[in-house]
Amino acid sequence: MAMQIESLDTPAILIDLDIMDRNLSRVADYARLHKLRLRPHTKTHKIPALGARQIALGAAGLTVAKVGEAEVMQRSTPDLLVAYPVIGRSKLDRLMRVDTDITVSLDSAEAAGQLSQAAQSAGRTIGVLAEFDAGLHRVGVPVGQRLHELVRSILELPGLDFRGIAFYPGHLKDAASPVDEMSASVQHALGQVRATGAEARIVSGGSTPLLWRSHEVQGINEIRPGTYIFNDRNTVESNACQWDDCAATILCTVVSTAVDGQMIIDGGSKTFSSDRTSIAPGFGRVTEAPAAVFEKMNEEHGYVNLAGVDRKFSIGDRVHVIPNHVCVAMNLHEQVYGVRNGRVDEVWKVEGRGKLQ
Ligand SMILES: Cc1ncc(COP(=O)(O)O)c(C=O)c1O
Repeated sequence: MAMQIESLDTPAILIDLDIMDRNLSRVADYARLHKLRLRPHTKTHKIPALGARQIALGAAGLTVAKVGEAEVMQRSTPDLLVAYPVIGRSKLDRLMRVDTDITVSLDSAEAAGQLSQAAQSAGRTIGVLAEFDAGLHRVGVPVGQRLHELVRSILELPGLDFRGIAFYPGHLKDAASPVDEMSASVQHALGQVRATGAEARIVSGGSTPLLWRSHEVQGINEIRPGTYIFNDRNTVESNACQWDDCAATILCTVVSTAVDGQMIIDGGSKTFSSDRTSIAPGFGRVTEAPAAVFEKMNEEHGYVNLAGVDRKFSIGDRVHVIPNHVCVAMNLHEQVYGVRNGRVDEVWKVEGRGKLQ
């Protein structure tokens, strides 16, 4: 007999399966409608079964950040994008043993050179996307001469198949952000590629906050949203979804009400992560008391300020908290529970958690 949610111990991440399925289908439909390849970033869920579900719904492949994640996700897809420069012999040797088609996005001739050597030794051809900076100033060369040179260096190297360009618009946190500048960057970048005589078959961008605007960015043909599968408090703040689109909540138990006007829940920074959002205070939204402020954390204690909350909480009560940043919270949990109609229908091991290398 399926387990009831009441019998789960806390803290525990619950995934509302109906909401998750709706999120997955909506984005798959959007990508299909606008003829965008969808290569979801799996850093959010880190669960091979969910990667397989994304592929079954029409995703062209999956994205990872780490070689360790690629090792975990390889059984879910024939196509992996490592959206992170892979530097150093040990990681490259492991990557060459990953048994899928592989594309790496990178931003230096050094990274391309190392990848080329590894590909040659392994007798493989590895796809490459040249990464440019669309404004986040994290990785990615500026569009212009340096992008031109990067593409040329990739084209000259054996074992590499230049497939196109990539960028990540992580600096744009509001769904209503203007996208004209990004379109202009993409057009400029495409001009730089054309000037080498090569063709960018893949133009890869996309994040969850700007997901629904992707078709307005001229020139992109692939999106890599990650958070959309669950959404979180950040996604709501970015106006890219509503509270009832948040599939992941962290079930916690009230363990102390000793201090007036406050309750302590059994999840702190080791359960939620310390990530803040850029707008609202606190570390999550208590679904049962949205006016409460989850204002402070120690490792195992969550301090919830109940000023302005008319409901009373007692020791042993359970609350569902929508985390600020679900991707990091997932990384902290060994397993998560897929729930529907009050029952636990799925127990998934978070196989990609802690795969930092
Ligand atoms: C390179 C890259 N692509 C895609 C994503 C997915 O973005 P989001 O989490 O907004 O869906 C991320 C997220 O960090 C990223 O770093």
